[in-house]
Amino acid sequence: MKNSPSEIGIDHMALYVPGPYLSLDDLAAARGVDPNKYSVGIGIRETAIATPAEDVVVLAANAGQRVLKEAGVSPDDVGLLVVGTESAEDKSKPTATHVHELLDIGKSCRVYDVVHACAGATYGVLNAIDWLHNSTHKYALVIASDIARYGKNEAGEPTQGAGAVAMLLSRQPRLIGLNEISTFSKNVYDFWKPLDQKYPLVDGIYSARCYAEAAEACFAGQDLQENAAYIYHTPYPKLVQQTHMQVARMIAGDVDIKNHFKDKVGPSLQLAARIGNIYTGSMWLALMSFLEANLSEPAEDSDGCYLFSYGSGCGAALLRGRLSPAWKEQVGLFGAEATLDARTRLAFDEYETLMDIYENPESISADDLAATTVNGSFRYLGTEKNKRRYGAA
Ligand code: CAA
Repeated sequence: MKNSPSEIGIDHMALYVPGPYLSLDDLAAARGVDPNKYSVGIGIRETAIATPAEDVVVLAANAGQRVLKEAGVSPDDVGLLVVGTESAEDKSKPTATHVHELLDIGKSCRVYDVVHACAGATYGVLNAIDWLHNSTHKYALVIASDIARYGKNEAGEPTQGAGAVAMLLSRQPRLIGLNEISTFSKNVYDFWKPLDQKYPLVDGIYSARCYAEAAEACFAGQDLQENAAYIYHTPYPKLVQQTHMQVARMIAGDVDIKNHFKDKVGPSLQLAARIGNIYTGSMWLALMSFLEANLSEPAEDSDGCYLFSYGSGCGAALLRGRLSPAWKEQVGLFGAEATLDARTRLAFDEYETLMDIYENPESISADDLAATTVNGSFRYLGTEKNKRRYGAA
């Protein structure tokens, strides 16, 4: 099932992750937990840790710069810029306004954030698809950018992560065409972040049940194709595995569920196991992971994918993706595994120091902030008169 040339979707994608990571074996040792609980029970081995010079603006701008450069697209051709995030630094001023300036996108561009927990960027992508149907502009840029922090010693600590996925959408995408095929919404308190809280409040087991209920509702009644890839929002890989065991039962015919998971889901979890949860970017990271892992597979074997997006609170959407004929050329530029291989492993006390700085940002001196290196071209410079400043790294 190939993309028809007129189908709107993603022309190119790019990932940005911070340079440092924490090995969950080190976290397990420090917390007195069996390391298999994290690597097998949850399915994460490493988590990306943002430096004090990185916030969601910095992650988004660095991913956005990369996607434009690799796609060979001028910022002047972007008419819509949407940032999906649930870890913004401001409750009013959009993250996207800073990204707009850093990427030097023209003034005749619509610029805004979408907040709906981890589904924000997916709703941004759906907005962009609708917008491209009517706009004369060539491209929409949607960036999912988040830093997932739960706090020291919290149950969610091993599922932390940080990163941004930038997606350039167009009418004749070189990567993948997308359509929404079902949606689900329900008012629940499974994961939420009151305005006065630094960390989210989570009803962990209930949140997994809400996720599973939304998945079942979205996949039910669909004519599910066995040979497609199944890409899920991935707060942690084990939840995806558990959910797919239920979803795979809905595929017609005699499906070997264990092997189906291994072939049609497993490769999508490789990057999440080394980055952790990146909230709005998590499902899109899973897509990059699946495509990069399948670069050597024959293109004609592909039947595209299903993409299940979940945002706590809650809202969910199921999208059908159809690969474009030239998808391998775009995926060949991802270099995601290589980016992760080049990171620096933090000592456990360095990780705790970074958590302390997040809790007390004033505790880092201007000199130490300036000396902090980042993985890309843009960085956070500091706050003056309550205004956050960004610039070249
Ligand atoms: N070896 C192997 N497996 C082990 C083990 C060991 N030594 N010790 C424990 N395990 C297994 C457990 O059996 C369990 O597996 P099952 O689910 O199959 O039972 C798994 O490891 C986790 O163990 P616990 O249930 O004891 O885990 P926990 O209480 O420490 O918390 C969590 C796990 C609830 C996921 C927690 O990390 C959390 O709250 N995370 C944040 C919330 C979250 O991610 N929710 C997901 C849905 S909401 C959403 O999708 C939005 C979002 O992104 C946040």
